[in-house]
Amino acid sequence: MEKQKHSSREHTSFLIFSASLRNGSLNTRLAKLAATVIEKHGGTVDFADMADFDCPTFNQDLEVDNYHPEGAEEFRKRILANDAFIISSPEYNGSMPGYLKNIIDWTSRFRPQPFHQHHALLLSASPSMAGGNRGLWALRVPFEHLGTRVYPDMFSLAAAHEAFNEDGSLKNETLAKRFEDNLVAFMNLVEASKHYPCIKKAWVEFLGEKPTKETERVE
Ligand code: FNR
Repeated sequence: MEKQKHSSREHTSFLIFSASLRNGSLNTRLAKLAATVIEKHGGTVDFADMADFDCPTFNQDLEVDNYHPEGAEEFRKRILANDAFIISSPEYNGSMPGYLKNIIDWTSRFRPQPFHQHHALLLSASPSMAGGNRGLWALRVPFEHLGTRVYPDMFSLAAAHEAFNEDGSLKNETLAKRFEDNLVAFMNLVEASKHYPCIKKAWVEFLGEKPTKETERVE
């Protein structure tokens, strides 16, 4: 994909990984395509291998002497080192993979809690016609609970085993444009939040109302 000039775009960096450990994973292909699109639009990519975040099964009894598994330390470090993160996750039985939830649980035990106020975009790929979208709704729950700003638009690639060209791009041009638009919209939000925070801080409780002392909220 051709890299474009972005003189008007401020710097943003993205941790991107596939939540599949499988060789030949469809989600890894989608995560790699997301990385290509982000770089094309001037973002910096930190592409991670999910295996680097691997943690033992969570057990609160292990939490002695401020113990955190290495995988959780690494996940925390990479979240904090970037402006936002993007996960492409498989759907297992209508939900997220168990090991992904396990890593989220371990990483949520640091203080300050690293997911808080970080932006996230959720992607999925599946051979099914729903593209793993139900799994992403499940994945939103712990992240939103932890204060992550989960981007409203999620992208789920249906029939993913037939969706890619040899070079990793999507065969369907309409879908490819939609994927790119979704990522660029997310990049715009992350850029605005990082570089123009005053614009993002105030909001009105109910659309259409004039800001008053009662309806205006400031973070
Ligand atoms: C699946 N798969 C699956 N697919 C789906 O769309 N909805 C589902 O609920 C499930 N459930 C499910 C459970 C388990 C235990 C496995 C192993 C698989 C199929 C899954 O989408 C497919 O294997 C993908 O290829 C997995 O993603 P990766 O590894 O290719 O990225």
